[in-house]
Amino acid sequence: MNQMNVKIGRKADHSYEIYIGDEILDRVGMILAKDGRAQRHVIVTDSHIDALHGERVQTALEKMNLRVDRITVPPGEEAKGIETVLTVTERLTSLGADRQTVLIALGGGVIGDLTGFAAAIYLRGIPVIQIPTTLLAQVDSSIGGKTGVDTAAGKNLLGTFNQPKGVFIDIAFLRTLPDDIFRSGLAEVIKYGIIELPELLDDLERAVANGGLRETAFLERTIATACRIKKEIVELDERDCELRRILNFGHTVGHAVEAASGYALSHGESVAIGMVAAARLSERLHGLPADDAARIAAVIRSVGLPDRIPAEMDLEDILSRLSLDKKKEGGTIHFVMIRKLGTPFVNGGIPEEILRNTLKGLKP
Ligand SMILES: NC(=O)c1ccc[n+]([C@@H]2O[C@H](COP(=O)([O-])OP(=O)(O)OC[C@H]3O[C@@H](n4cnc5c(N)ncnc54)[C@H](O)[C@@H]3O)[C@@H](O)[C@H]2O)c1
Repeated sequence: MNQMNVKIGRKADHSYEIYIGDEILDRVGMILAKDGRAQRHVIVTDSHIDALHGERVQTALEKMNLRVDRITVPPGEEAKGIETVLTVTERLTSLGADRQTVLIALGGGVIGDLTGFAAAIYLRGIPVIQIPTTLLAQVDSSIGGKTGVDTAAGKNLLGTFNQPKGVFIDIAFLRTLPDDIFRSGLAEVIKYGIIELPELLDDLERAVANGGLRETAFLERTIATACRIKKEIVELDERDCELRRILNFGHTVGHAVEAASGYALSHGESVAIGMVAAARLSERLHGLPADDAARIAAVIRSVGLPDRIPAEMDLEDILSRLSLDKKKEGGTIHFVMIRKLGTPFVNGGIPEEILRNTLKGLKP
């Protein structure tokens, strides 16, 4: 089992461990039992994951004499609203959960975000542990303490920074993950390769060539590398002020494309298109070698993610959503660019005509 420590700020109690391995539920139980601080644990999960894994996780923890309950909410982004948080907190009250209770977020990014948020506000804050079950959550959302829920006006508009007390990444969960959701997580892995560690792209290319993208050894290695990159960035910039912004490579155009598709495109598919756009802009404006931009698009295609904007989508709609971002950011859209693979920087202004032409070039 791989283990790494995330050091947040100077306070020891804000730091936590990430554990990564295959079939590690028994160890999770042992670690929580040994810690001994919590009088009880409440698992929050969605009905999908509950049917596949809920009982198994609860039993593994109960075997260590931990007191465990389960709260189940509906699956999907539609459930990531304040109403679901209130349902969770009401259930916590009826279970008699107190400040010695620890919440366990068992699920993808949606469950991680909303459980982290519920934990931040219930009784003015109780601890939360993340047990991520999607690739995206294992390489990205379970680490770093960002929590949030959506409102009618947009995604993640309510939230807090709330660091978990621990993150337990069991690769075994990925064996039940459907291919399209798995691919969505690969977009974030590709992102880390582009912004930080080009060797990740080499490894991905080899895995694609051998048909080994879902092999345990590849996943364990890739997830550990991704977690290390994310935790090092979060340690330097917990609150998303400077450095952490580089994690948004591909996300500026990605979010606009995702919203313009009416969420028909997944987050991963949208970020994939956004990364190709950011690579093209980097080539045009900042001297990224054409071969590197072409390689980024090729890796994206090779794992089954899109590298083109779907023909039926309206470019002006995407551009107007980018202008909305501009209003939120005080007049400037922050694009993450690269001069070469592994060297990202934030660029505060791209002329609209160049943006329009670049997006036009991404239409089939
Ligand atoms: N906090 C952060 O830093 C951060 C970063 C990136 C994304 N996010 C958030 O993450 C969310 C997306 O997360 P996601 O892509 O994990 O989607 P998700 O949480 O909606 O999960 C996708 C689907 O997969 C199912 N599922 C989960 N694990 C499974 C498993 N092991 N086997 C079978 N099915 C399984 C779920 O039931 C759900 O239907 C978005 O809301 C986004 O805003 C947060």
